[in-house]
Amino acid sequence: MLKRIMVALDGMNTEQANLFLDRLEGSSPSLKIGMEMFYSAGPEFVKNVQQKYHSDIFLDLKLHDIPNTVKKAIAALEGLPIKFLTIHLAGGAAMLRAAVEQARISIPDTSLLGVSYLTSIDQNDFKVLFNYSTQEEIDQAFQRLFELAFETGMDGLILSPKELPLIQEMESKRGASLLKVCPGIRFEEDIKSGETGDQKRVETPESAFSKGADYLVIGRSLTNAKNLSQRLEFLGQITKAPNASD
Ligand code: C5P
Repeated sequence: MLKRIMVALDGMNTEQANLFLDRLEGSSPSLKIGMEMFYSAGPEFVKNVQQKYHSDIFLDLKLHDIPNTVKKAIAALEGLPIKFLTIHLAGGAAMLRAAVEQARISIPDTSLLGVSYLTSIDQNDFKVLFNYSTQEEIDQAFQRLFELAFETGMDGLILSPKELPLIQEMESKRGASLLKVCPGIRFEEDIKSGETGDQKRVETPESAFSKGADYLVIGRSLTNAKNLSQRLEFLGQITKAPNASD
C-alpha cells in the first residue's frame, strides 16, 4: 500500500487518467486531483475514481479568495469523498478560519492542508514579490505562514522538503504537530540528469521521508515514467522504512 504517496493526476483527460490508474497494479497510492482535472472532469470524476479504486482522494483546489467565497466553495463540496483539501495560507486568518468552520459542517472527514509558498518559487521570485534577499528573511516568511496554520486550526501543510526542519523546530517548541505533505519530489536519476521541469526546490523521495514528511506528492515522475513499476516498487520499499511506516 502506497497511501503515503499522493499521485498527482495532472496533464491528462479522464480516459488517460483511467488508463494510468489501471497501470498502478494494486499499489493503492492516494490520488491527487488538481485544478486541471477538477475543472475539466468535475465532481463526478472524483466520485467515480474513489468508488473504483478506493483510494484516499486529495482534492488540490488551492482555495484563495475572500472568506465568504471560500466558505461557499467548501459548502459546494459536500458529499464528495475527499480526504484532503488545500487552501492557500496567504489568504489570511479570517479566510482560513472560515474554511475550517465550513469544512467541519460540509466535509467533516476532510483534512485541510495549508499551502505555504509554491515549490516553483525561487529566491529571485521572493525578491521580486516580497523584496526578501536573504535566506533568513525567506525562512521567517515560511514560519509566519506555519504559525498561521497552527493558529487557525489547519490539519496540515503543503511545503517543500527544504522547509521540513523549520516546521519541525516549531512543532517541538509548541508540542503539537501538523501533517506535512511535500511536493517538489524528483527521483535521483532525474535530478542528476537535470529533468526537474518547473519545480525549483526539489528533493528525492527518500530524503523527504527521512526529514519527516508524512506524505509525498509525486506527479510527472510517475505519470510520465517509462519505468513506472520499478519506481512504485522503490517507493514501496522506502515507505516501509522505520521513519515512513504504512
Ligand atoms: O509533476 P510534479 O511532481 O511536479 O507535480 C507536483 C504537483 O504538486 C502538482 O500537481 C502541483 O500542482 C502540486 N503542488 C506543487 N507545489 C505546491 C503545492 C502543490 O507542486 N506548493
